[in-house]
Amino acid sequence: MSFPKGFLWGGATAANQYEGGYLEGGRGLAISDMITAGAHQVPRKIYYEYEDGKEGVTTIGGSVPKGAHGIVKEGIYYPSHVATDFYHHYKEDIALMAEMGFKCYRFSVSWTRIYPNGDDEMPNEEGLKFYDMVIDECLKHNIEPLITILHFDMPQHLADAYGGWSNRALIPLFVKYATTLLTRWKDKVKYWVNINEVNVLGGYWTLGLSSDNEQTKKSNAVMEASIADAGLKYQAIHHLLVASAHVNKVAHEINSDNMMGCMLALSGIYPATCHPDDVFGAYDFRRHALIFSDVYMRGYYPGYAQGIFDEYNFTLKMEEGDEEILRAHPSDFMAFSYYRTTTFDRNSEKITTTGGQQGSSNPYLKETPWGWPVDPVGLRYVLNELYDRYQKPLFIVENGMGNIDVLEADGSVHDDYRIDYFRDHVKEMKKAIEIDGVNLLGYTPWGWIDVVSAGTGEMKKRYGFVYVDTDDQGNGSLKRYKKDSFYWYKKVCESNGEEL
Ligand code: BG6
Repeated sequence: MSFPKGFLWGGATAANQYEGGYLEGGRGLAISDMITAGAHQVPRKIYYEYEDGKEGVTTIGGSVPKGAHGIVKEGIYYPSHVATDFYHHYKEDIALMAEMGFKCYRFSVSWTRIYPNGDDEMPNEEGLKFYDMVIDECLKHNIEPLITILHFDMPQHLADAYGGWSNRALIPLFVKYATTLLTRWKDKVKYWVNINEVNVLGGYWTLGLSSDNEQTKKSNAVMEASIADAGLKYQAIHHLLVASAHVNKVAHEINSDNMMGCMLALSGIYPATCHPDDVFGAYDFRRHALIFSDVYMRGYYPGYAQGIFDEYNFTLKMEEGDEEILRAHPSDFMAFSYYRTTTFDRNSEKITTTGGQQGSSNPYLKETPWGWPVDPVGLRYVLNELYDRYQKPLFIVENGMGNIDVLEADGSVHDDYRIDYFRDHVKEMKKAIEIDGVNLLGYTPWGWIDVVSAGTGEMKKRYGFVYVDTDDQGNGSLKRYKKDSFYWYKKVCESNGEEL
């Protein structure tokens, strides 16, 4: 069997990196609005303020100190405020998706467009109407919407007044927000992803955490900062997992056809050598990510969880009913992002426990300009790893390469490197389906149109099949241009993956 009939070819984006319109339509302030632009190996920052007006700064992996709250600072450029302006271009952009033959569009809803403070009694009708229009426009073109309920985003008010996801009070607030969406679009949207990349969340930027941990305050590196607060992070993510199980329950009550997915960043991990400490180290390192999908997909914490918590002297606080809800409402499918592989080297200091974005370099692989190894076979490896482990449908909801593109005078962009990257990855997907028997529902490459980079806040790190005219300072017309990869991917979608 080749790609099955109805395979969902498409593309993915997230509100905070694409939408813009940050204070329009009654939208409230989100933490993502406070994250500055960084650069390659220069972390993005969040400025914060204490009650008395004293200011400080942390990085996207860090927490803000207790008693302080994030601010939007005058004179600083915040790339998400306009981003690539889907808010004002949605019709044009969905027409471009349709022209490419998309069957599916994965996007996230901005929580503060729906509940501006997160704990409002009533939803913001104008925000809901915006997504009504987006969904209807997709359906008009026979594009199946796949909604991510939360993608690197949360209302600032919930961080500052509640301490973010460290507080269980966020569980019912999130369930209320999700229920609003599930009810509103019950006959229009079938595929849902609860939380984006739950295994890489941490600190203030995605969990709204505040902490007086000295290492966090001093740390200038994303990974170090999130490790410093690992205990806090695991507790906060437990609340997200419980909230997701409640959402799955509600979703199936609203419409039993709903397909509820979990989502992890699962770029693969290899041992650097066949030394047993590298082999077991790589296996063990992988568990720091799979711990979350094990809970989502199997409904309970795995036996090795305690070992991970012990590394941080952390004891998980469960409340009555948590175990039952997790067991009763696992995910229907597993969504994941795949960009690269990482090599685990027992002697490397660079390896971290938060998702495998660093490690020793792999001499067999070429890298993107941002140093991400390009590894199509790794995608087949991960597809098999996950299907063998869970035996439930998979969905690749992100894949792609960030690169520097050149817009030519005639409006063309010659991005052969991107075509090569995708062609090689799609070939491996095909093998996973045909030879290995993996049940794969669809494929939505990341940033099908250029969006702001989550990691660096840059515009020049482009992923799209469509070029958007804006730069790292937000200069440009926001006009859209089709890259060479646009025409290539159109053939792929239209031929159901036969013409590569
Ligand atoms: C994933 C995220 O981690 O990777 C996206 O879900 C992100 O939001 C993507 O944009 C690519 O990472 P980056 O840092 O290159 O934008």
